[in-house]
Order: sequence, then structure tokens, then C-alpha cells
Amino acid sequence: MAKTKIIKNIGQLATWNSEKNKMDIKENVEILIENERIQEIDSQINCPECQVIDAHDKLITPGFVDPHTHPVFYNTREMEFEMRLQGKSYKEIAAAGGGILASARKLRKAPKNELKKMVTDRLDEFFRFGTTTIEAKSGYGLSVDSEIESLEILKEFKEKHPLDIKTTFLGAHEYPEKYRNDHQGYIDLIINEMIPKVAENQLADYADVFCEEGVFSAEESKKVLESAKQYGLGIRLHSDEFKPIGGTQLARDVKAISADHLTAITEEGIAALKEGNVIPIILPATTYFLGSDHYAPARKMLEQQLDVALATDFNPGSSMTQSMPFVINVACLNMKMTPKEALKAATFDSARALEMEDLVGSIEKNKQADIVIWNCENYQSIPYFLAAQTVEKVMKKGEIVWENRN
Ligand code: NIG
Ligand code: FE
Repeated sequence: MAKTKIIKNIGQLATWNSEKNKMDIKENVEILIENERIQEIDSQINCPECQVIDAHDKLITPGFVDPHTHPVFYNTREMEFEMRLQGKSYKEIAAAGGGILASARKLRKAPKNELKKMVTDRLDEFFRFGTTTIEAKSGYGLSVDSEIESLEILKEFKEKHPLDIKTTFLGAHEYPEKYRNDHQGYIDLIINEMIPKVAENQLADYADVFCEEGVFSAEESKKVLESAKQYGLGIRLHSDEFKPIGGTQLARDVKAISADHLTAITEEGIAALKEGNVIPIILPATTYFLGSDHYAPARKMLEQQLDVALATDFNPGSSMTQSMPFVINVACLNMKMTPKEALKAATFDSARALEMEDLVGSIEKNKQADIVIWNCENYQSIPYFLAAQTVEKVMKKGEIVWENRN
């Protein structure tokens, strides 16, 4: 059994406090960790036999929870980045043979071992940025075999990688070339072959659809999601990214846990989030990476008492970053979230978005000891020290899984 640990010399502890229903910013506390869990948080803990972890008067936060990532891809797509700089839009690039379909062509031919190695490297890399729990989607296979393979890889890592991982089936990420003019044919394939296999082999916790003009209409999305529900999968949705075509209202109707992107959300969409208790997941790094200045109206949602969650949307097309500190920076500068709101959105609210708030997302008694020790002093430093390696040590279930060796 792992030794009992105590974190001492904490300069500042910044975490959500469920009892007080607010962010706690504390000084002079110590944390006792036993059996993977936080046992005690107090001003002075007496434990002479404990292993001491010295925080050197720095900041301590919960590990980040990143509730929207696409880590199963083969090739990167930096040429599209350059095309965007030349003025081509996301949709024009897709129409010219880039985009999701370009990833699907490569992924289907990828040797499984090589792909697995890439995915494991990416999962390891999350720790560097302080992320200890993620949601991970398939969606670059777009064929029965390739979607199943992507999810099998994720399932294997879910069982053996130290990150906590929730998995999502995103076969409805795009129409594959073969079904360009036969949408119903692909929907039938998803419903009759993919979803039953995913469910039978317990390959995913959730199903997701890219509900967008030119991709899956609201009606098409509904067919996929209702079938997924019948098989017991939870529901999440990419909605209102470019054009509001009713995706967020659909999220309400199918009782989705989250609606993600929301850059083009309307008043009706915001009302639907509230009516359906759907958690808005905002992806500001995507807006930034696409070179757009049209950010999701996070302030408006917060003012309407909607607790937004933040995520990276890590993927090779529209958000090539795994960094939650970067996401927090963009959320502050471009969506006017305060550093405190953004920290909460990247920890506690994102844990809620994965239905894991009883286990992760805050430093509280009985929760998992998923903790980041920073090399800066206060929570405002997270967005302030832009693109710097401010994460010093990362603890997952009470064990140090990453430390800065520089
Ligand atoms: O979440 N919006 C849809 N899907 C991804 C982008 C996928 C890609 O371009 O590869 C996203 O941003
Ligand atoms: Fe996405």
C-alpha cells in the first residue's frame, strides 16, 4: 500500500469548495493523502511517519479536467494552418480535401501499434499541463472497423493509463466520402452496426455528433443520438460552432449532458441549455486556433447563471493544443472570464460535465488526490505566465506522475 503523504508549505490553495458553493483561496493549509484520496485539509496536520511533499510556498490546484478531446488521430495537419493564414476558411479547406476526411483517410491505413504509441504519448503529455482527467473521442475513423479500433485503443488506455478517461463514440463526426450523397446510408451504418458494437463491447461512455450546417443536420443528429440512448450511452453534442441549426435545442431534447463549442449560440440556444440542464462546454482555444474573433458568449452565459466548463478540444484540425493553462488564458483575455471563474470552469465544472464531480475536479476531503503543484504563487498566475511551463509537479491518485526536471 502506498505510504501516507502530506503536502506541506502550500503558498496558496485554490479550489472549488462544495460545502460553501464557492471557490476557496486559502493560505496556511496542509493536505493529508491516504489510499489515493484526500483525507484531511487543515492548518497543521500532525503525521511524523508521513512522506512529506514540499510545495515550496507555491500554488496548489486540483488537476485539470479536460472534457472534450480528440486524441486518436494519425497525421497532423499543419498545411491547413498555413492555408488558413492565406485566407481559406475551415469549410473551404474541408471542401479541398482537408479537414476531418483527410484525417480519416490516414487513420484507416495507420498501423495499429504505431497509432497506439502516438496516442499513449499524447495521453502522457496531458500531465505536463496539469490535466489529470480527460474525455476522449473517436471520430477520425468513420468506418465500422476504424471507429471500433479507435475506441478499443481508448478502452485499453482507460484501463491502464494513469489518467482518468471517459470515452465517447463520435462516428457521426463527418460523412465519409462514400456516403457524401447517401446520408441515410451512413446513419444506417452507425445505427445498425457501429452503435450496437460499441455498446456490446462497452467501448464508450457517451455518443457525440458534429451537428453543423453541411455536416449532420439536427434531424440527422437526432436519429443517431436517440439510437445511442437506447443502447444506454450518455449524450454530448458538438453544436452551434459555425451556424446555429438547432443543435443546442436538440441537446436539451435528448437530455445531453453537455453541448460543446457554442460560438454561434442564439438566445433560444441559451434558453435551451437552462431548460435542459445541459452543461455548456466552451472551447476558446479552437476559436483562437482558427484565427477567428468570434468567441462563445461565455460572459452572457455566466450572467444567466449557467456554469460553463472549459476544454481544449485537442485535435489536429482546429485546436492543436493540450494545454488547459493556455485555454484559461484565452478564456480570460478573449471571453472576459475572470481567472477564478476560468479555474473553476477547468476543474469543477468540467468534472461535472463528465459526471465525475464526486471524484475529481476539486481538492476536498474524500476526493481523489489529483493535485497540481505549480512554480508560481497564486491562481492569477495561471493565465498570466503565458505559454510558460508553470506546472511543477502533478499528482494523480496520490502518486507523482509528472514533474518538471529542468
Ligand atoms: O471539435 N468541430 C468538429 N470537430 C473538431 C474539428 C475536427 C478537425 O478539423 O479535425 C472540433 O473542432
Ligand atoms: Fe471537438
